[in-house]
Amino acid sequence: VKMAAGSGGAQAAARGPRAPLPAWPRLLLLGDTGVIHVVEKEEDLRWVLLDGPHPPYMVLLDGSLFNRKVLLQLKGTSRVSGLAVAKAKPSPPQGFSPGLKCPNDGFGVYSEDYGPQYAHCNTTVWNPVGSGLSYEDFDFPIFLLEDANETEVIKQCYQDHNVPREGSGPEYPLCAMQLFSHMHAVTSTVTCMRRSSIQSTFSLNPEVVCDPLLDYNVWSTLQPINSSGKVDPKKEVILVATRIDSHSFFWNIAPGAESAVSSFVTHLAAAEALHKAPGIQSLPRNVMFTFFQGETFDYIGSSRMVYDMEKDKFPLRLSNIHSFIELNQVALRNNSVLWMHTDPVSRKNESIQTQVENLLETLSNSSAGANVTLQDVGYSQPLPPSSFQRFLRAKHIPGVVLSDHRASFHNRYYQSMYDTPENIRVEYPEGLSPEETLEYVTDTAKSLAEVATVVARALYQLAGGANDTSAIQADPKTVSRMLYGFLIKMNNSWFQSIIKPDIKVILGDVPQHYVAVSSPVNTTYLVQYVLANLTGTVVNLTKEECLNPEKTPSTEKDLYEYAWVQGSLDPNSTSRAPFCVRSTVRLSKALSPAFELRQWGSTEYSTWTESRWKDIRARIFLVASKELEMITLAVGIVILVFSLLATYFINAKADVLFSIPRDPGAVTY
Ligand SMILES: *[C@@H]1O[C@H](CO)[C@@H](O)[C@H](O)[C@H]1NC(C)=O
Ligand SMILES: *[C@@H]1O[C@H](CO)[C@@H](O)[C@H](O)[C@H]1NC(C)=O
Ligand SMILES: *[C@@H]1O[C@H](CO)[C@@H](O)[C@H](O)[C@H]1NC(C)=O
Ligand SMILES: *[C@@H]1O[C@H](CO)[C@@H](O)[C@H](O)[C@H]1NC(C)=O
Ligand SMILES: *[C@@H]1O[C@H](CO)[C@@H](O)[C@H](O)[C@H]1NC(C)=O
Ligand SMILES: *[C@@H]1O[C@H](CO)[C@@H](O)[C@H](O)[C@H]1NC(C)=O
Ligand SMILES: *[C@@H]1O[C@H](CO)[C@@H](O)[C@H](O)[C@H]1NC(C)=O
Ligand SMILES: *[C@@H]1O[C@H](CO)[C@@H](O)[C@H](O)[C@H]1NC(C)=O
Ligand SMILES: *[C@@H]1O[C@H](CO)[C@@H](O)[C@H](O)[C@H]1NC(C)=O
Repeated sequence: VKMAAGSGGAQAAARGPRAPLPAWPRLLLLGDTGVIHVVEKEEDLRWVLLDGPHPPYMVLLDGSLFNRKVLLQLKGTSRVSGLAVAKAKPSPPQGFSPGLKCPNDGFGVYSEDYGPQYAHCNTTVWNPVGSGLSYEDFDFPIFLLEDANETEVIKQCYQDHNVPREGSGPEYPLCAMQLFSHMHAVTSTVTCMRRSSIQSTFSLNPEVVCDPLLDYNVWSTLQPINSSGKVDPKKEVILVATRIDSHSFFWNIAPGAESAVSSFVTHLAAAEALHKAPGIQSLPRNVMFTFFQGETFDYIGSSRMVYDMEKDKFPLRLSNIHSFIELNQVALRNNSVLWMHTDPVSRKNESIQTQVENLLETLSNSSAGANVTLQDVGYSQPLPPSSFQRFLRAKHIPGVVLSDHRASFHNRYYQSMYDTPENIRVEYPEGLSPEETLEYVTDTAKSLAEVATVVARALYQLAGGANDTSAIQADPKTVSRMLYGFLIKMNNSWFQSIIKPDIKVILGDVPQHYVAVSSPVNTTYLVQYVLANLTGTVVNLTKEECLNPEKTPSTEKDLYEYAWVQGSLDPNSTSRAPFCVRSTVRLSKALSPAFELRQWGSTEYSTWTESRWKDIRARIFLVASKELEMITLAVGIVILVFSLLATYFINAKADVLFSIPRDPGAVTY
C-alpha cells in the first residue's frame, strides 16, 4: 500500500540513512496492528470508542472527518492502534488547515517588549481555520491513503468481514491492518540533540536519532557584488523576499500552491522583468532577490540570514538594507486588490515613517495602468507572519509585506494537502499534451504576472531609476511555465533544459516543497536554476572553463556564478546542447542559529528537528481468531525451542556428523 505518514508532535518524518535496529524492536510494531473499522460519519466512531468487541482498531477515516474534534477523541482512547486517512475529494469547502491559528507565534517581532498589544495574534487571527493538528503528539501512526483504488480494496475487505451485524460483533476471521513506522527520536529536540551529541563525543559510530532541519536560501543581486568581500557600507540595497517552503500534516506532501508557490513564482517573474530593463547596471541602489527556505518552521532561513549579516558572515550587513519588500500569498485577490501591510510599531519613528510612506507611494504609483490595485492596510494592524519580522527584530528597517488578504488569510488550506493548484485556480483544458500544458497561459498566470510587473516597476524606482517604467513588463508565459513546473510536473522539458546534468534526478513527478534535513532539496535547486535562467546570461565558455571559472581570469569569479546546464533536446535526437550560464545566483545556509550556538532549547531561534525513521509501509490480512492466534504462537514457540535444541545438538556433535574423510595424497599445496 502506498501511503504518506503523518507527522504530529515535535519531530516530523525523516529521510536519509538510518542505523539498522536490532531485531527485538520489531515486537513494538505489533502494537500498530488492528482490526479495520471504516468511519464515514461521526456515529461510526461509537463502535471504535465504545461498542466494538475487538480492540484495538485500525481506523479508516473519511477525509471530511479528519478534524481536531475527531482526532482528539481518538487520541483519548487506547482502543485505536492506527489511523489511515482517505483524502477528501473535492477539498473540504469549510477549509482545512493543520497549521496554527497564529503561525510561527513567538518567533516574529511582536512580543511583550515590542508592540505587546499585537503579540500572539491578539489583534488579528491570521489563520482562523487552523486546527493545530500538525503540532499535536499522537502515539499511534497516521497515514494518508492517496490511491482511491487501494482505499477501495481496504473497504471491500472491511465490508466482507468486519461489518457489525444487528448490533453484535462480526465473527472471525476479521480483516486487520498493520502499519509499519518507527520513529527513533524521543520527547524533544533538547533531549535528542543532547543524546546525539554525547554519542558523537564518546562513540566512533554514533547512532543519531534526530537531525536539525537544514537547507539553503537562494539569493541573487541585480548588480553583481563581490561574494568573498564586503559590500561598501554606503551602498544601499533593496531586499525582496519570499519563502519557498511549505508543509502539510503528511510527509512528502506539501503542495503549498498559495502559501509558497504563488509568491515565489511572482518574485521570480519580477526578477526577470527587472533584469531585462535597460540601464539597470547604473542604478544608484542595488536590488537583492531572496528566497527563504524553512520559514514554515519558525523562520529558519530568514533568522539565519539576519544572524549571518550581524556576525559579518554575509557580503551584506543589515545597515546596507535600504528597504524591504516581501511577497506573501498573492494569488487569491478579490477585486484585484493587493494589500500593503506595514509595522505600526516601527512607524512611530519619524524617519522610518517617512521612508515607509515613500515605499507605499512608490508601490501605489507603480500600479497605475495595471489591473492591480494596491491598498494600504494602515496602522491599526500588525504585520502578518513574514520573514520581514525577523529583520525587524534586529533593526528598524522600512518595509512592506504584500498579500491578497487584508486581515485573516484568504487561503482556507494553509499548510495542508489541499493547498493544490486548484486552490489558486490553475486549471487546464482537457486533452493538452505535457508540452502544450507547459506553455498554456492560465488566468492565474496572467494575474500573477501583473503583480510581478507592479513589483518590478516599483523596484526600479526605489533603486533610483528615473526613466519611464512602462516598458518593464513581467512575462505571463514565464509565469505559466513556472506554475506548471512547481505545481504540476517538475520533470518538464524546460526544467530539464536549465539544470546541471548531475542533478537531473531531482525532477520527480509531483512537486512538493518541504524543507529537508540535508543537502538542498528539489525546490531549492529548481528556484536556483530558474532564477539563473531568468536573470543570467549565456556565455561562450567551454565546459572546462565553465566548471572551473577560477582558471580563467576574465570570468570574474568573485562576482559571478557559472553553471554548465543540460540545454534542450536536439530535434529528432536524444542528445542535448549544453551551455554555460553566468548569473549572480547563490545559496546560503538555512540552518537555525540555535544549532550553530548549541542552544537546543532556544526561544529566540527555531529548534525544529526531524526524527529518523524506518520504512513506512502497510499490509492488510485476515486474522483467524484469538484462540487460533494463540495456538499459532504456541506452535511457533515449540518449533523455535526444538530447532534451538537441534542446532545445539548438531553443533556439539559437528565433528562426528560432518567429519570429512581425509585423503592426504589427493591434496597438494
Ligand atoms: C483504479 O482502477 C480503475 C479501474 O480498475 C483503473 O482504470 C484505474 O487506472 C485505477 N487507478 C489507479 C491509480 O490505479
Ligand atoms: C573580492 O574581495 C576579495 C576579498 O576582499 C578581494 O581579494 C578580491 O580582489 C575582490 N574581487 C573583486 C573582483 O573585486
Ligand atoms: C533613460 O533613458 C535614456 C534615453 O532613453 C537613456 O539614455 C538613459 O540611459 C536611461 N537611464 C537609465 C537610468 O536607464
Ligand atoms: C529612528 O530611526 C533612526 C534610524 O533607524 C534612528 O537613527 C533614530 O534614532 C530613531 N529615532 C528614535 C526617536 O528612535
Ligand atoms: C524525466 O522524463 C524523462 C523523459 O522526458 C525521462 O527519461 C526521465 O527518466 C524522467 N526523470 C525522472 C527522474 O523521472
Ligand atoms: C526529489 O529528488 C529526489 C532525488 O534527489 C527524487 O528521488 C525525488 O523523487 C524528488 N522529489 C520530487 C517531489 O520531485
Ligand atoms: C533559459 O532557458 C531557455 C529555454 O530553455 C533558453 O532558451 C535560454 O537560453 C536560457 N537562458 C539562460 C540565460 O540560461
Ligand atoms: C565561442 O568561442 C569559440 C572559441 O573560444 C569561438 O570559436 C566561437 O566563434 C565563439 N562563438 C561565439 C558565438 O561567439
Ligand atoms: C525530424 O523528423 C521529421 C520526421 O521524421 C522530419 O520531417 C524532420 O525534417 C526532422 N528534423 C530534423 C531537424 O532532422
